[in-house]
Amino acid sequence: MGKVVAFTNPKGGVGKSTLSVHLAARLWEKGSKVALVDADVQGSSSDWIREAIPELELIRLQSPDEMLEEIPQLKTRFDHIVIDGPAGLSDVTRAALFVTDVSFLPCGPSALDLRAANNVIRVLRQAQAIRQGPPVAVLIPNKLQARYRLSRELVEIGRTLGIPVMSGLRLLQAYADAAGQGKVVWRMGAGAEAATCEMNQFLEELVRV
Ligand SMILES: Nc1ncnc2c1ncn2[C@@H]1O[C@H](COP(=O)(O)OP(=O)(O)O)[C@@H](O)[C@H]1O
Ligand SMILES: [Mg+2]
Repeated sequence: MGKVVAFTNPKGGVGKSTLSVHLAARLWEKGSKVALVDADVQGSSSDWIREAIPELELIRLQSPDEMLEEIPQLKTRFDHIVIDGPAGLSDVTRAALFVTDVSFLPCGPSALDLRAANNVIRVLRQAQAIRQGPPVAVLIPNKLQARYRLSRELVEIGRTLGIPVMSGLRLLQAYADAAGQGKVVWRMGAGAEAATCEMNQFLEELVRV
């Protein structure tokens, strides 16, 4: 049975699509059977992955019914299913929390951003209570500017929310440029070395969750 991971945060611009595309691409390059599920009507990860890795299986699911019915089917065909969640605390996000094994919550670097993740954490807890355990949840601070100083505060907030916090990603131009170029950072060449190095470490951490 395949493993399902979902990037869920109703707030837009926190890195759900960026992280979904990079994780799916890395798993695919390692030889796994991967499906990227684009659950956002904007379809930004669909456009991106089609350019970056046209061979990677891309599935668009935009209703809670599709999510609840099709993900279990996909688990029988793929090793990894990566869900790029929609903006807004929609029924699609709720449905994703009922079918995913891991819920990654990317969020902005400030305490305010983290606290704003509270509404999705509430829904996450509902899913965990009904499912008697899953999904596992992890916070991913993104766009960090002063990584080490901030992370202590973020880890502290994660503790009060009862959710582990990953080391996260810095705010780097290469990440912002990647979507426009239709590439993943490790294929961008000169100028993207720092992002490539950071992303490599980050993805190693991510696949261990
Ligand atoms: N660590 C980062 N550094 C710089 N830009 C980033 C970073 N993460 C994401 N971005 C940019 O921020 C914007 C929002 O990211 P995106 O992945 O589309 O978020 P979401 O899917 O949550 O709306 C995009 O333009 C993206 O390129
Ligand atoms: Mg997105």
